[in-house]
Amino acid sequence: MTRVPFVAGNWKMNTSKSAAIELARGVAAGAPASSVQVGVAPPFVYLDAVGQAIGGSSVLLGAQDCYFEKNGAFTGEISVEMLKDLGVKFCLTGHSERRHVLKESGELVGRKAAAVYGGGLTLIHCVGEKLEERDANQTLAVCQKQLDELSPSTMHDPDRLVIAYEPVWAIGTGRNATDAQAQEVHAFIRGAIARKWNKDFADRVRIQYGGSMKPENAAGLLARPDVDGGLIGGAALKADSFLAIVMAAR
Ligand code: 13P
Repeated sequence: MTRVPFVAGNWKMNTSKSAAIELARGVAAGAPASSVQVGVAPPFVYLDAVGQAIGGSSVLLGAQDCYFEKNGAFTGEISVEMLKDLGVKFCLTGHSERRHVLKESGELVGRKAAAVYGGGLTLIHCVGEKLEERDANQTLAVCQKQLDELSPSTMHDPDRLVIAYEPVWAIGTGRNATDAQAQEVHAFIRGAIARKWNKDFADRVRIQYGGSMKPENAAGLLARPDVDGGLIGGAALKADSFLAIVMAAR
């Protein structure tokens, strides 16, 4: 089964408007037209400008979060419809910073995931264990629970479902999962998806690795059979290092 790898940059709460446009232009200029899918997820307030900067290129525009309601009295929130209006093609849910810093519950994450997929966007659903959970041998159970936030009865297109395995202890720490640790969890995730959906579906779902992925470790991680790309934080804030990871995924 050949899956087109997907490498996405999660810019988190970084850049200024001018820096975002410059970074986006750099990524668009160097991104290959085929063989790997490339995406960038800037802060909400720069989506429009970044969308214009990558216009005409193969780079997909993404959002880091959304709210599940379509519109209404939800001060400060952004709907999937609003994202689509700006040309957004994919949206993250369940990022560890939203779960653990912003205290989003699994129930809220699940409603957001349903809204993203139901709205026609590609969903990147993030899962991953904290260090104490890994130490207590709960890694696979935590990932299973977070995968169970997704509903197979409403998600039928495997090309629009992406799972990002992001061990919390590897995010922003410089300490990435080893190739073998990543592969073990990715294989588990694919098996869990096969059990929830079916094997054909699971074989088509891309599973990204995220957590201190950088040009120096990307090739080894991406060479593993169930690692189908990356969700990149710090190394996505410079076009050169982000594109080096993109090239390693080809
Ligand atoms: P870092 O690449 O900075 O570790 O961040 C990973 C991440 O959280 C991407 O969503």
